[in-house]
Amino acid sequence: MTHPPTETFMQVYRIPKATGIDSLTLTGTHIPQPERGQVLVHLHAASLNYRDLMIIEGRAARGAPAENLVPLSDGAGLVVSVGPEVSRFKPGDRVAGCFMQTWTGGPIGPEDGASALGGALDGVLAEYRLFDQAGLVLLPDHLSYEQGATLPCAAVTAWNALFGGQALYPGDPVLVLGTGGVSVFALQFAVAAGFVVIATSSSDDKLDVMRRLGAAHTVNYRRHPEWQEEVLRLTEGQGVARVVEVGGPGTLARSIQAARLGGEIGMIGALTTGGDINPTAAMRKGLILRGIYVGSRQMFEAMNRAISAHRLEPVIDKVFKFEEAGDAYRHLKSQAHLGKVVIRITE
Ligand SMILES: NC(=O)c1ccc[n+]([C@@H]2O[C@H](COP(=O)([O-])OP(=O)(O)OC[C@H]3O[C@@H](n4cnc5c(N)ncnc54)[C@H](OP(=O)(O)O)[C@@H]3O)[C@@H](O)[C@H]2O)c1
Repeated sequence: MTHPPTETFMQVYRIPKATGIDSLTLTGTHIPQPERGQVLVHLHAASLNYRDLMIIEGRAARGAPAENLVPLSDGAGLVVSVGPEVSRFKPGDRVAGCFMQTWTGGPIGPEDGASALGGALDGVLAEYRLFDQAGLVLLPDHLSYEQGATLPCAAVTAWNALFGGQALYPGDPVLVLGTGGVSVFALQFAVAAGFVVIATSSSDDKLDVMRRLGAAHTVNYRRHPEWQEEVLRLTEGQGVARVVEVGGPGTLARSIQAARLGGEIGMIGALTTGGDINPTAAMRKGLILRGIYVGSRQMFEAMNRAISAHRLEPVIDKVFKFEEAGDAYRHLKSQAHLGKVVIRITE
């Protein structure tokens, strides 16, 4: 049985000024009431993405965030009350917020980027949050709130990179770089779809885990700085059909070399700097370089159907308590994690 909250006050984290992880500040405020078309969600868990580090350190692509931003895009929780004219959800539903609140389907629209949670708009590191009904999806039944909170950014991005572009077929080789949130989801979806995954990492221990999760081949990019040559060797000189490219400037030239003729590179991340990109290499291979900005609600819903059908479980590296949110950021920054870093908001 679900009731509207009996308390009237809630706790929420804000970033008064984005000067680093220590700027994260726990404050109190009134629990808002849903108006027309709105849904009040009691958030149970949130997860971090590399983007959240960039935002709190004031180095996000959009520049410094608005003062007093509520951080984090990815949260899951329970619908506790709904406003008038809400038809998509009811109290008792278990939901997650969409990364971009207004991108429901089709190509991204000009205003959708301005509806990203924890960036342009306040995010989910709070006990309660109001959402427009269009900006939520139902969680797969078999997932906990902590698992559900890993999905909105990293998983949808990985889904879009694999299934939003040109078609891949079972047996196609796919390359995932590193073992962060996006790449581990990409591995899981690719394995479920029957693709042959090559995974890279700086750590042999992490590569062991990736093999247990279904990677067919692994390459330590520290031991093999020219890792693209290993990828070519593993694909009998052909290269991969898809690169889930989270490295950016410092890895893209090697990803282009690792791709097969007519292959596609999902341009996702910017974990690295430097690098010198020669467009001719991509041109002569007839590659598609496809820019990816998370994904739409329709993609999120399609992904959830696959997660339910395959009973996929997100890989959670560590769960932090609400009052340890700063430590969760520091853990993500250390890059000691594999998969997702989660904050439990409500016990
Ligand atoms: N465009 C979009 O819509 C979108 C959406 C989500 C994320 N992103 C971007 O994608 C990137 C990954 O995000 P995330 O949240 O998954 O990050 P994350 O969880 O923080 O991943 C960090 C991991 O990346 C790996 N890594 C670091 N440098 C690398 C390198 N030179 N080569 C290969 N792997 C490297 C490391 O794996 P090992 O420890 O195994 O070496 C590291 O642990 C970020 O740049 C993020 O901003 C973009």
